[in-house]
This record gives sequence, structure tokens and C-alpha cells, in this order.
Amino acid sequence: TPVSAPDLTKCTRGTNLNTQQPLDVNCCPPVSEKIINYKLPPVKTMRFRPAAHLAGKEYIAKYEKAVELMKALPDDDPRSFKQQANVHCAYCNLTYEQPGSDAKLQIHFSWLFYPWHRWYLYFYERILGKLINDPTFGLPFWNWDHPDGMFMPGMFARKGSPLYDALRNLNHLPPAIADLRYDGKDAADQSRIIQNNLVEMYGEMVRNVSQLEDFYGVKYDADTNSSAGAGAVERGSHTALHRWVGQDTHGGEDMGNFYSTGREPLFFSHHANVDRLWSLFRGLRGSKPKDFPDSDWLDSNFLFYDENAQLVRVRVADTLENEKMGYTFQKVDLPWLRFRP
Ligand code: C2O
Repeated sequence: TPVSAPDLTKCTRGTNLNTQQPLDVNCCPPVSEKIINYKLPPVKTMRFRPAAHLAGKEYIAKYEKAVELMKALPDDDPRSFKQQANVHCAYCNLTYEQPGSDAKLQIHFSWLFYPWHRWYLYFYERILGKLINDPTFGLPFWNWDHPDGMFMPGMFARKGSPLYDALRNLNHLPPAIADLRYDGKDAADQSRIIQNNLVEMYGEMVRNVSQLEDFYGVKYDADTNSSAGAGAVERGSHTALHRWVGQDTHGGEDMGNFYSTGREPLFFSHHANVDRLWSLFRGLRGSKPKDFPDSDWLDSNFLFYDENAQLVRVRVADTLENEKMGYTFQKVDLPWLRFRP
């Protein structure tokens, strides 16, 4: 049975998964009576997602403006920065039930990871684009799989910018090198991080992912338990960087804790790169299957608010190709492809 969209009226106070205590914040979304079955709109103009470290002044100014406007929306507007951050919390911190069961929904550690985050970014991006009246606006991706992108992108590290977040590990602001194997301690030998990162990427994208499950994560449907098993990127570089960016004290806020990670503007660039790696993986598969021909996956569905504040139901089946969703990524070199150990 595919996972089905939660009943928002039954959202309950979630759990802080770092401490296993009840959350002290409520991250349930506004409720709406009307739910629209979402159809991908015809692509008229392609959105362009640039590498964050290559983005120019004009682009950065535009992006800052958009996030500033999002932060200025009233808290109860589902498109506000606060509500957008809560979306992550609600789907990850065990606030939702599956209809007809009391198993709590958690979209991580499973094959729902890529599609769910793709939808999350999709609407976040469209809301920003609408706020600045720019249908070509695309999120910047944090190109941490390339040596030139292996540090926190500068636009996020400027105090006073709407892209700045004070709740971070302050030792990891630029020029600290992002460690894709970070496990809570800084590597003793900093000179080897870049090399190790490239080996890590080769493993996550090529060497260790011959089966689809290895890449996507394990099957999770409404009858089985969640947290079945994460794919290679989710488990590896993705989680390492969540921890690397978040504080190493308290609960890892903001980036290093599920409930607070959406409050970190860098989150969306981190995941734009994860999203890009998904597209690259599909390209690298050649003639091998690129996704699961399984209706339990394809028909899984979620709820989001779109850029017009309408509640929409979306399906995994519509996420398989980023171009069909109306956006593309800047093409950059993939040095990890040459790092076969
Ligand atoms: Cu939903 Cu990177 O976590």
C-alpha cells in the first residue's frame, strides 16, 4: 500500500529525534478544507539552479530579496519562512499518522527521501519565485561534491543577510573545508579532506549503489515500518553535512536536527545538491533501471501548500524527471567520477 497524504487535522505534537523528548514547538501546518490533486503545469520557462559558489552578485541579491520577503509573510501564511521550515518538522518528527494506522510518518531513511524532498524544494522555489515575480528563479545548489564548492557558500555566511543563520557551528564558516565524512569531530588531518570527499562521492554515486535500493533507500509503504534503511547519499555525505553545519552543542540546531533544519536557509541549497545528485545518478545508470516500477512507490503521496497557498496532493510518480518539473541545474565538472579508489 502506498504511503498516503496525512490528515492535517490529526497532526500532533512531534518528537525531538535527537533527544527523544516531545518537541517544545508545534510544527503542524495550517489546515485547509480543500485539497487539489496537483498536476505539473506545462513548462513554459525553465528555472535555472546555479551552483552557489559560482552565482553572481545580481543573482544573490535577487535570492536575498526573495527570502527576505518570505520571512516577512505573516506566520500563519503557509508560504511564510516559518511555515516552510515547519513542513520539514511535520513530515519528519512523527507528527502525522497514516490513515487507518497509528504508525507515525517519517519520510527519511527510506525510498521516500528523494521524492519527498524534491517536492519540498519545488514549492519552496516556486514561492520564492512568485514573491519576486520571477518565473525563472531557481534555488542555488551547494556544490559540495566539487573541490571549489567544499565550504559553506559565501552568500550564507554574511551576517545580516536573510540567508544567514546564527545557530551553526561557528568553526565551520568559510574557509573551513566541508567534510563529507564528518561524524561530530573535526578531522585531524585537514589536508586529506578534499581527497577523501571525492572518494566518498564516488562510493555513494557509483561504487556502492549497484542496486536501486542502495541509492534510493529501502522500500517503505503504509504496511511496513518506517526507517527501513537510508540510501548511500542520505546516510553518507547528506547526513554528515547536516551535522557539520549545525551546532555541536545542544540539539545540533538548526541544521543538525530534523525539527529545526528547515530554519537554516542553507538547508535548501544542501538539498538542491542532493536533488541534483539524484538526477546525475539517473544519468549514470545508462540502460539500467533508474527507478522502481512499483506502485507502492509511484503512488505514494504527500500534501504541500503551493505558491498560491493552495493545499495540493502530489505523487512520487511526478518527481522522476526534474525537467518535467520545470527546472534544470548548472552543469559543472564531476571530479569524483575519476576517483575510483
Ligand atoms: Cu529531510 Cu536533509 O533532511
